[in-house]
Amino acid sequence: MTDHVLIERQGPIQTIRMNRPDKKNAITRAMYASMAKALTDGDADPAIRVHVFFGVPGAFSSGNDLSDFMAVAMGGAGGTEVFDFLMALARSAKPIVSAADGIAVGIGTTLHLHCDLTFATPRTVFRTPFVDLALVPEAGSSLIAPLLLGRQQAFALLGLGEGFSAERAKDAGLIYEVVGEDQLEARALQVAGEIAAKPPEALRIARDLMRGNRDELVARIEEEGRHFNARLKSDEARQAFMAFMARKKG
Ligand code: COA
Repeated sequence: MTDHVLIERQGPIQTIRMNRPDKKNAITRAMYASMAKALTDGDADPAIRVHVFFGVPGAFSSGNDLSDFMAVAMGGAGGTEVFDFLMALARSAKPIVSAADGIAVGIGTTLHLHCDLTFATPRTVFRTPFVDLALVPEAGSSLIAPLLLGRQQAFALLGLGEGFSAERAKDAGLIYEVVGEDQLEARALQVAGEIAAKPPEALRIARDLMRGNRDELVARIEEEGRHFNARLKSDEARQAFMAFMARKKG
């Protein structure tokens, strides 16, 4: 467990808040583990009807902690925390709402592809610089994004690494609604409350029908993961991580 993730229950709503503002919510292995456990615990608990992901003001997440990437790139062991979190997302049994304000990079973007309703503020920018970091898309995004956005918008997001403003993300079908910063969390909680009030079994079946069989998604996450782990250890990825570290010092 880590205090960089705050888990709270408000009746049937479980909120999962990334809370590492000094690093713009860069996600560490401990944070992934904590969020995976929250999802699986909430899924198993009949009292919980819906999960809600929050970040902090100005930062939903700056993505995977690059120090953790660097550690693997330098020969360290990777652990299963990221994979476990992605599996918990892909296999989630209950609706997931997310609310993003500001920075939404890497998994800070691809997480929303697994959500049922995503809210974002006008200052939010979604960006996945995987290829620029000499990596490949993850979290099943190479499968879900083309289905959701169409292949060209998906390529702009995942291949070119273009930033998507909240408006563009909404037009493209990546998110549900754009709301002001001061209303973001209240609006997400309000809709989560509406979800929680639905007959749970009917909602579960409706959601499962819309999501379809998850096996293909799980297989894609595994396939991406094999490439991702190999790319992490490449010279070009090491150089990209070192460039970020050097930028930090400058
Ligand atoms: N991993 C580790 N640390 C990170 C991080 C990440 N993904 N993103 C930000 N940080 C750290 C910075 O190093 C900095 O730490 P420091 O104060 O100890 O130097 C702190 O968070 C604040 O970041 P900073 O870059 O000063 O904020 P910014 O508002 O100027 O820029 C970002 C924010 C997110 C645009 C920029 O930090 C960035 O590009 N981060 C890397 C994003 C990324 O590539 N993620 C991986 C995706 S797969």
